Amino acid sequence: MSTEASAKLFVEAFSDPVKVAQYLDGPRRFVPGLADLHRMTGILLAERAPRDARILVLGAGGGMELKAMAEAHPEWTFVGIDPARPMLDLAAETLGPHRARVEFVQGYIEDAPPGPFDAATCLLTLHFLSAPERQRTASDIRRRLKPGAPFVAAHGSFPQDSDQRPQWLSRYAAFALASGADPEMVSKARDAVDAHVNMFGPDQDEAILRDAGFSDVSLFYTAFTFRGWVARA
Ligand SMILES: C[S@@+](CC[C@H](N)C(=O)[O-])C[C@H]1O[C@@H](n2cnc3c(N)ncnc32)[C@H](O)[C@@H]1O
Repeated sequence: MSTEASAKLFVEAFSDPVKVAQYLDGPRRFVPGLADLHRMTGILLAERAPRDARILVLGAGGGMELKAMAEAHPEWTFVGIDPARPMLDLAAETLGPHRARVEFVQGYIEDAPPGPFDAATCLLTLHFLSAPERQRTASDIRRRLKPGAPFVAAHGSFPQDSDQRPQWLSRYAAFALASGADPEMVSKARDAVDAHVNMFGPDQDEAILRDAGFSDVSLFYTAFTFRGWVARA
């Protein structure tokens, strides 16, 4: 399957109401330290973003990072972009009383307002994109930021050499099992990541951010198969 077809497959999966209804239970079992990743993301953005910052959130479906940032930073407002309508509907539900501070846009980065924004995030999303799409998306995020504004990206990123990749995929699955995820779901997720997700090694991920025009790219989060970086536009 081509990388474009894989990306489409994932958008379709996030548009399936049955899968979306179970979404919120997934990331916390699969992503080590997810709540802390959200907390650190808010802290890193706040180092440079003003008290009343407007934040671009790409891949905003489900609303988990939006909720965490909205709770921690009561004057921030957000634009949340995602191609999957059911994931945006779930985000609206997750946000509860904070919903009014978020403008949702169904679509991709090119559908986002031009900004310029005070900061941006893209969590657990860029790994679905091929290298050229990822680079283009990262550049389009950077273009929507004020000069020097912070960007936090976090997604699957781990050594891809044939002697290391299978072991990391097994650790990914083992973490989810140890966190109480359904064994059949874990097995399917491991196979899907292996076959369809565009995982790169951390060096390539960092290079993509730099080539997209970000500076000061620095790793702040590393948790089994996941990495997170903060960078400046
Ligand atoms: C695993 S979810 C992550 C959602 C949320 N950021 C989180 O951390 O819980 C990935 C999301 O990315 C969205 N997505 C897929 N391709 C995208 C793209 N090219 N641009 C923006 N979002 C995309 C999906 O619809 C889905 O809602």
